[in-house]
Amino acid sequence: MINTLENKQIGPRRTLRDKLFDYSCQKIGKEKTKFLFKLYDLGRFDLFGKPKGAIGAIDITNRCNLRCKHCYFYAHDYEGRPELTDDEWIGKLESLKETDFPFYQCSWIGGEPLLRKDLIERGMKYFKSNLIATNGTIELPYWPDVNFYISVDGKKDTHDAIRGMGCYDRIKKHANRPELKISVSMVINTMNYQDIEYFLEEWKDVGVKGCLFQIYTPIKGLKNNDLWPGWRLRDEILDKLLRLKDEKYGDFIGVPNLVLKLMKSDKCKEITRNCVFKKVSFCLDPQGQIKKPCMMGPQADCLRCGCVLPFHMWALEDKWLMARELLMSLRRKIGKRVLR
Ligand SMILES: C[S@@+](CC[C@H](N)C(=O)[O-])C[C@H]1O[C@@H](n2cnc3c(N)ncnc32)[C@H](O)[C@@H]1O
Ligand code: SF4
Ligand code: SF4
Repeated sequence: MINTLENKQIGPRRTLRDKLFDYSCQKIGKEKTKFLFKLYDLGRFDLFGKPKGAIGAIDITNRCNLRCKHCYFYAHDYEGRPELTDDEWIGKLESLKETDFPFYQCSWIGGEPLLRKDLIERGMKYFKSNLIATNGTIELPYWPDVNFYISVDGKKDTHDAIRGMGCYDRIKKHANRPELKISVSMVINTMNYQDIEYFLEEWKDVGVKGCLFQIYTPIKGLKNNDLWPGWRLRDEILDKLLRLKDEKYGDFIGVPNLVLKLMKSDKCKEITRNCVFKKVSFCLDPQGQIKKPCMMGPQADCLRCGCVLPFHMWALEDKWLMARELLMSLRRKIGKRVLR
């Protein structure tokens, strides 16, 4: 596999877009250029549809320094199978360059992705946009263009009961990095659903960009089914998030209203049965193989899926609703600026 790298220009593919980007940076500066390209991507991908493989995830490692109660990763049969080495991963990305793979957005996950910082630093150069989902127990590298999502599962006691003693304090220390783009991400389950308001209050003034909420997805074969809230409580949780978003937190709750509504029990089954995310995204496992149907693996119970992505992508199919949601969000942002 590695010998395919020989005699070859290694590195991200330079497209016309990259050249335009550099030119624009020289003319109007990096920040303005980034803003304009973001707007362009929003129009191109979010309103007019993403090409296949435009978003997805790489399980860059099968190792983790924690063993959380709810984690789908432990249903996967990775033990005893070695993960790819750094050069093998770069070889894999190089071989994708020979295809029409779009190299648009990549989420680096695992296991704990920051156990392989050096490799991610090399790998993320291939993608236009990078997201890292981390448990926050390892110091975050200085990567100002990356979107970090730190998993926080409630109050300190609850979080540590789910993730292990002492984790919360380490996260609090590592999340205090105003120079980075950090959001916090909570997976709601029966152990932590009562912590939602506390969680929002705790994180609202510490410089993180926002809070992402997802709901626990049951995984066949794992003995943690008691974490599933059931349909009625799940609907109550979604109603609560909608109310908190309207009354107090607005876009600090980083899930659009429409997505929260689509996740409710009267709508969600049709959406997860025909999961758009599964159809258009890519996911690679720690051996560089395609993982199906999504990063949660084949044991995930799709009908009870609590991941926001299938709902988000379904909503994007309804361009007018999504355009309205975007406009409302812009109006809220502009309104806030005027009030300041
Ligand atoms: C598998 S972890 C990998 C990244 C990193 N180790 C972390 O904890 O953020 C990615 C995300 O999946 C979430 N997750 C794990 N098991 C889940 C499940 N059964 N349902 C929903 N989300 C889950 C985790 O809480 C985390 O936010
Ligand atoms: S830190 Fe992430 S990968 Fe590791 S066990 Fe917890 S949820 Fe799973
Ligand atoms: S678990 Fe959720 S995101 Fe994954 S394929 Fe099933 S419905 Fe889609």
